[in-house]
Amino acid sequence: MDNTIYYTNMNNLTSLKNHLSKYKTPEEINHIFNLVNEINELKKNKNAVILGHNYMPPEIYYGVSDFTGDSLALSQKAANTNADIILFNGVHFMAETAKILNPEKKVLIANLDAGCSLAESIDANVVKNFKKENPDVPVVTYINSTADVKAESDIVCTSANAAKVIDSLDSDTVFFIPDIYLAKNVQKQTSKKIIFWNGKCMVHELFSAIDIEMARKTFPGVTVLSHPECTPEVTRVSDYTGSTSQIEKYIENNKPEKILLLTECSMGDNIKSSHPEIDFVSTCQICPHMHKITLEGILKSLKEEVFEIHVDAAIAAKAAIALNRMLEIGR
Ligand code: 13P
Ligand code: SF4
Repeated sequence: MDNTIYYTNMNNLTSLKNHLSKYKTPEEINHIFNLVNEINELKKNKNAVILGHNYMPPEIYYGVSDFTGDSLALSQKAANTNADIILFNGVHFMAETAKILNPEKKVLIANLDAGCSLAESIDANVVKNFKKENPDVPVVTYINSTADVKAESDIVCTSANAAKVIDSLDSDTVFFIPDIYLAKNVQKQTSKKIIFWNGKCMVHELFSAIDIEMARKTFPGVTVLSHPECTPEVTRVSDYTGSTSQIEKYIENNKPEKILLLTECSMGDNIKSSHPEIDFVSTCQICPHMHKITLEGILKSLKEEVFEIHVDAAIAAKAAIALNRMLEIGR
């Protein structure tokens, strides 16, 4: 059980203020901090925990999140909280995962329209039909998927443990859904045969190997970091590829001077805020779904206890089996 008493880290708030002062007016910063304080007060009064994905903007990431991380870290946190309410600042499939792991708790998201192009690329019937035709081939499902799809799957994985999950299975072939690029990147790390599905992240598919070539010419010595939802052409010419938290860890351990970060923009903003000495060069892409979560929305969500995530009990029970199999394997 997690007995954490939630509090706001003052160091984070100071570096947040310093970071915001580079591009916001004092009035805007004042407004942000009024919202942050109101949210943190309500959170204490309601015994709520706020989980924030690495793609949340700095005011949400540093201002109001009790725990931040990649999809794997946040699902591990969600599985071990004693809070009465879980407010998930991320996209719908993430909050749904928290609900599957906590069927008795109230799980909230500030905007129900925060979707994901990967989760939308496949439905449960595809998995059911595949299993009918290939009863011996396990289905490995990326966490960026709906509860219905997870429920029909053998095991879930995240970008942090996909190869480990595939290798844990007693089969030479797996059906990996829905992300084709993650599957192709993982194929380089496993000897098992992977059957692909053609889902793509609308954000990461936009990066190209040409971006990298240009950046290396313009900024000699730049370290190129990419997420495994990028194409294999991009990951092949990157210096390091990993989940959002793995990228953060790489930066902590290697302290590169100049970075080309091929992932969602807010993640770069968060790292810039705590590492102002790092020079971030050129391109990043905004996830329009993640950006539907705002401080105003979070305040309304906590005040009115909206929007609650509901998952059919039978589906949640089946999806929990696939999720817990992954949680046993870990990172
Ligand atoms: P991570 O699990 O690496 O945090 O990625 C989630 C995601 O949606 C990336 O686009
Ligand atoms: Fe989905 Fe891509 Fe947005 Fe991540 S960045 S939530 S994979 S659309």
